[in-house]
Amino acid sequence: MNPNHDLIFDLRQVNFSYIEEQPALQSIDLQVCRGESVAILGANGCGKSTLLSIMDGLLFPTKGSFEAYGNLITESKLAREEFARFFRSRVAFVFQNPDVQLFCPTVLEEVSFGPLQLDLPKEEIERRSHEVLSLLGIGHLADRAPFNLSGGEKKKVAIASVLSMNPEVLLLDEPGNGLDPRTQAWLIEFAQQLREAGKTIVTATHDLSIVDEIADRIIILDENHRLAADGPTSEVLRDQELLLKANLIHEHYHHHNGMLHSHRHSHIIGHRHEH
Ligand SMILES: Nc1ncnc2c1ncn2[C@@H]1O[C@H](COP(=O)(O)OP(=O)(O)OP(=O)(O)O)[C@@H](O)[C@H]1O
Ligand SMILES: [Mg+2]
Repeated sequence: MNPNHDLIFDLRQVNFSYIEEQPALQSIDLQVCRGESVAILGANGCGKSTLLSIMDGLLFPTKGSFEAYGNLITESKLAREEFARFFRSRVAFVFQNPDVQLFCPTVLEEVSFGPLQLDLPKEEIERRSHEVLSLLGIGHLADRAPFNLSGGEKKKVAIASVLSMNPEVLLLDEPGNGLDPRTQAWLIEFAQQLREAGKTIVTATHDLSIVDEIADRIIILDENHRLAADGPTSEVLRDQELLLKANLIHEHYHHHNGMLHSHRHSHIIGHRHEH
């Protein structure tokens, strides 16, 4: 085990390619410590989901190394049942697309699946499953087939199926996507409660309006699939040039009283008028 017990993830010079010569991640150095809330920002296709998949042990670096809890994570290490159980009970991933995540015949079975793998007592599994269903307001869907649900309902089931495992580390890929405003607000508040409970949360998002509420640290991936920034949320959000370059805000040009104006659009900072 790593002597630094607070270090959970340690990525060193990680490269990943799905297709040879086409990098999805390049030279990523990243450490995540226990209790941190990190947001991963970046334009479409820059590698956010790929990075989360590496942290969940679903993909393995093409080059470089990924350690979790002081263990080098490789395919053969995760093939060992005992280690897989250690890792999977601690780290859980809510996918960007819930269709990839959901596979059980009913919603109740879906949220019970994780706890079942942990060999918890039957009563505890039932208690947890019903608790998370009611937490997400989807108790009435318990007997429905996940594949027949609406997009937002599926997302809620995917979130519930991860929460029922009570993991230490939550990897959330665009968690608010497809959720109605009330559920989004609930999720932000819930993420704050998880933070206060000492959970480690890594969230990939495009939504600049929520990052200051869900993260104390931001990392930005650029369109070359490299780390463009890593720092405290308020500091990174202040760097307009960086946000513009990473395609997280956009410049809008238009005519106003016969003069050309440019506005930088982002939800959080509002419109900055440059004359
Ligand atoms: N299964 C795959 N096969 C081949 N290439 C892929 C695959 N999945 C992703 N890629 C490529 O890898 C790169 C990174 O993709 P990734 O899904 O990690 O981006 P992302 O930052 O999550 O994007 P988005 O904001 O659209 O979710 C992209 O260039 C993408 O085209
Ligand atoms: Mg993605």
